[in-house]
Amino acid sequence: MPAGVPVTLKPEPQSFPGISPFYQAGLCTPWVALTWPVGPREVELPAGEVHVWCARLGAFPEQIQPCWQMLSSDERARAERFRFSSDRLHFVVARVMLRTLAGRYLGMPGSAVRFRYGPFGKPALDDCHGSDLRFNVAHSGGLAVYAFTRLREVGLDLEAEPLARLLAGVSDSFFTAAERQALAAIAPERRRLATLVLWTRKEAYLKALGCGLQQDLQSFEVSVPPLPPALLRVPDGHAEERRWFLYDLQPARDLVGTLCVENQAQVRAWSWSHA
Ligand SMILES: CC(C)(COP(=O)(O)OP(=O)(O)OC[C@H]1O[C@@H](n2cnc3c(N)ncnc32)[C@H](O)[C@@H]1OP(=O)(O)O)[C@@H](O)C(=O)NCCC(=O)NCCS
Repeated sequence: MPAGVPVTLKPEPQSFPGISPFYQAGLCTPWVALTWPVGPREVELPAGEVHVWCARLGAFPEQIQPCWQMLSSDERARAERFRFSSDRLHFVVARVMLRTLAGRYLGMPGSAVRFRYGPFGKPALDDCHGSDLRFNVAHSGGLAVYAFTRLREVGLDLEAEPLARLLAGVSDSFFTAAERQALAAIAPERRRLATLVLWTRKEAYLKALGCGLQQDLQSFEVSVPPLPPALLRVPDGHAEERRWFLYDLQPARDLVGTLCVENQAQVRAWSWSHA
């Protein structure tokens, strides 16, 4: 087993409710190999770039209490509402990572970062920061990805293989006729992966818009693998199609994702090292 896997179990602090069963059940974040290089501790974000970070959502027991303390009261309340302790841990660690990364770009401690939420729940920096920094987050399979950029909207989606099995049965309700036709032309052994990538292309666009799955997935069209990622048709016409750029992401072997960015940008992708 690689060094650093959180296997040491000890009683959790009482102030972090319900985490210990996660460890006791041995449901630690899987040790997946991240494919992106480890990112720098200090980094500048020029206006023309998008920085994408990938992090594992595990935590050593001794890290849990400091994580909990970094959260705002509404984040703690949200964490407490999770029914499963594994979901609670993933949410808490994902938020701590978001705060830590955003804090680095803002030049402040992660605990001082304040968020506001759009009408459909998309988090953004609170206006009190007076910052042009924008971000989006996605998590799946015990990993989270974060995209940071300036003065432009950004959306991310990340999905793991199990979703592909679900999608196989219900793709008619999510994909347009042209998307379904393109999928049908793909060899069966590659179709499942293509379906998963297609899903992330669609969801990343909706997350960039901030509406999430409130918008009809059949109201717009994206390219289907093996074609490169692109937004092909949206209700608002060609100008809107040209405004958005999609990028494939694969931060780990069994996970695929898409980054959707307003206007073309240079994408730099890193793994987060907990060391
Ligand atoms: C956004 C959405 C597609 C995320 O779906 P998902 O596949 O379960 O989750 P992902 O891992 O891709 O992304 C989750 C992250 O996206 C971000 N997010 C939440 N709502 C978002 C939105 N409307 N647009 C963009 N990003 C959003 C959050 O950072 C969230 O992480 P958090 O829960 O740890 O804060 C889904 O929640 C959705 O459709 N929401 C909008 C409609 C809705 O139901 N809103 C209810 C609250 S108003």
